[in-house]
Amino acid sequence: ERGNYRHFMQKEIFEQPTVVAQTLSSYVRQADQTVALPQMDFDLSSIDRMTIVACGTSYYAGMVGRYWIEQFARVPVDIDVASEFRYREPPLPKGGLALFISQSGETADTLAALRYCKARGQTIAAIVNVPTSTMAREADLLLPIHAGPEIGVASTKAFTCQLAVLAALAAKLAVVKGQMQRAEEQEVVRHLLEAPACLNQALDHDDDIAAMAHTIAPARDVLYLGRGADFPMALEGALKLKEISYIHAEGYASGEMKHGPIALIDEDVPVVVIAPSGPLFEKTVSNMQEVRARGGQVVLISDADGLAEAGEGCLATIEMPKVHPLIAPLVYAVPVQLLAYHVALVKGTDVDQPRNLAKSVTVE
Ligand code: F6R
Repeated sequence: ERGNYRHFMQKEIFEQPTVVAQTLSSYVRQADQTVALPQMDFDLSSIDRMTIVACGTSYYAGMVGRYWIEQFARVPVDIDVASEFRYREPPLPKGGLALFISQSGETADTLAALRYCKARGQTIAAIVNVPTSTMAREADLLLPIHAGPEIGVASTKAFTCQLAVLAALAAKLAVVKGQMQRAEEQEVVRHLLEAPACLNQALDHDDDIAAMAHTIAPARDVLYLGRGADFPMALEGALKLKEISYIHAEGYASGEMKHGPIALIDEDVPVVVIAPSGPLFEKTVSNMQEVRARGGQVVLISDADGLAEAGEGCLATIEMPKVHPLIAPLVYAVPVQLLAYHVALVKGTDVDQPRNLAKSVTVE
């Protein structure tokens, strides 16, 4: 079933344009250019607080979702990893919507957090890949991702499909909250429908990334930096790299660098900067300069405008298409996945079955 691919992870990375298109086809209506969610028996417009809970890569998808929901719908979002959330016994907002994100729909801590919220009267929504899973059954509102079975232990296509659903959810919430006008909704729909083509453009860099992997593979530590909705992409890039190549990697919010991690910087610690051009790009460029001034080697992932402005002097650059902020995290997921994949190939590790990891974590 791997077809011509060497690994399931590689196959699943390359499936992303297809599965994201498939996911979006049930969340956007092309005919009238609107965002659509499945039927629900509660009033979405009455939601004025949200809680998001998940683990690992699904948690990073949730972090991106928080940026979008707060920015577009102006609904405040609390977010935590499930293992902390369930035991800190958080007070929950009256009439709140609690959203659980899980590829498997079976992760023990996430399920326990779901039940905690349900018992306290929250409305429960779940973004899951496995439609027959426990979380899918227990949710009031099931938001399926339609990614198809994910075999590689490191999550890839489920992540981008989770992001696609979160983008649609953020837009729909913005519409019902009166924060997004009709014209803007149509624009968002247009951009979402462009996502599969942009993912393909990102995948076209497979060979460059494979070549670059040889310069990253000898590193003992790698830092990833990002800002705003791209900060979780730095966390995800670092997680993917450590999971499958066993290189120590950390993701930081770009602005946090000078509060500690900059002490690690020397010529042996590559810094992967995830920074589409935009209003905050300048700030990221100055963070890059701080890295370079200390002999640090930067891999810059940006679009043509960003690379023109800051690409010079980098160890390597990867050019992404220029995209709307609502799809940037989906598109930028691809180069960080490919980088982890190719570094793992150079190191000769078991990509689909990394040591110590299980696909579905149904014990605490
Ligand atoms: C990372 C990875 C894990 C899962 C996490 C949650 O590549 O796959 O971090 O994301 O174990 O699993 P689900 O989404 O099934 O709840």
